[in-house]
Amino acid sequence: MTGDPTELQQVVMNLGTNAAQAMNSRGVLEIALDMTEIVEAQALSHGNLPAGRYIRLAVRDSGSGMDQATLERIFEPFFTTKPAGHGTGLGLSTVHGIVAAHRGAVDVKSQLGQGTTFEIYFPQIEPASAQADEGEGEATEVPVEYGNGETILVVDDDTPLMQLAEEMLAALGYEPVGFDRSPAALNAFSADPGRFDLVLTDEVMPDMTGVELSGKLHEIRSDLPIVLMTGYGRTLR
Ligand SMILES: Nc1ncnc2c1ncn2[C@@H]1O[C@H](COP(=O)(O)OP(=O)(O)OP(=O)(O)O)[C@@H](O)[C@H]1O
Ligand SMILES: [Mg+2]
Repeated sequence: MTGDPTELQQVVMNLGTNAAQAMNSRGVLEIALDMTEIVEAQALSHGNLPAGRYIRLAVRDSGSGMDQATLERIFEPFFTTKPAGHGTGLGLSTVHGIVAAHRGAVDVKSQLGQGTTFEIYFPQIEPASAQADEGEGEATEVPVEYGNGETILVVDDDTPLMQLAEEMLAALGYEPVGFDRSPAALNAFSADPGRFDLVLTDEVMPDMTGVELSGKLHEIRSDLPIVLMTGYGRTLR
């Protein structure tokens, strides 16, 4: 697809912030990107989706969810259920505007007490026409957040990938500590749980999967932020 990186980042940020707020900062936030083909035109919660190929961004949370009355108004400018001073109610109307400008559509599913899933569909553009649109070598810079020496536990059974992640994190100003065996990572963490600010772990690993490792880490330190990654398309549960 073609799009404005700053605007697309804003979409992810606004949906992610809402999700975090709906979970009171505790719960599971899942962000996924995949490609999908819609064979027959579909009605979504907020608009219609013509048949075609789409890039789908899903932001799922295990938070408070919404009732039907709220769900019907979420994209209205200044609609908020948050106390005064906590929300302007502009987050989702901004998302809606950006998605519309990219000729996309939004589907929202929510259940009170269970959580919410926002799915954004962006029309897929054939590489040839995308190139024609972009012009030669006109890559747009995406602003990057730098770390401040925070210690990140990196776990991936694929050693070269783990090392690559370490290098990238170090270049971004973080202090990575990598392991290619999940039990070894667990040992290092148990030895000094306060040392780590974040865990970045692969899901599909022998000995202990990322989800299993996360459970054990959370038994030791329940407030530890963990980011699960996987190159496999299956849903994490
Ligand atoms: N993931 C979510 N779970 C539960 N409710 C949500 C979620 N996302 C949005 N909402 C509801 O939709 C309303 C509007 O969201 P929107 O992002 O537009 O505004 P806000 O978050 O209240 O304020 P702002 O984003 O301007 O700080 C929220 O107040 C909330 O009631
Ligand atoms: Mg918001």
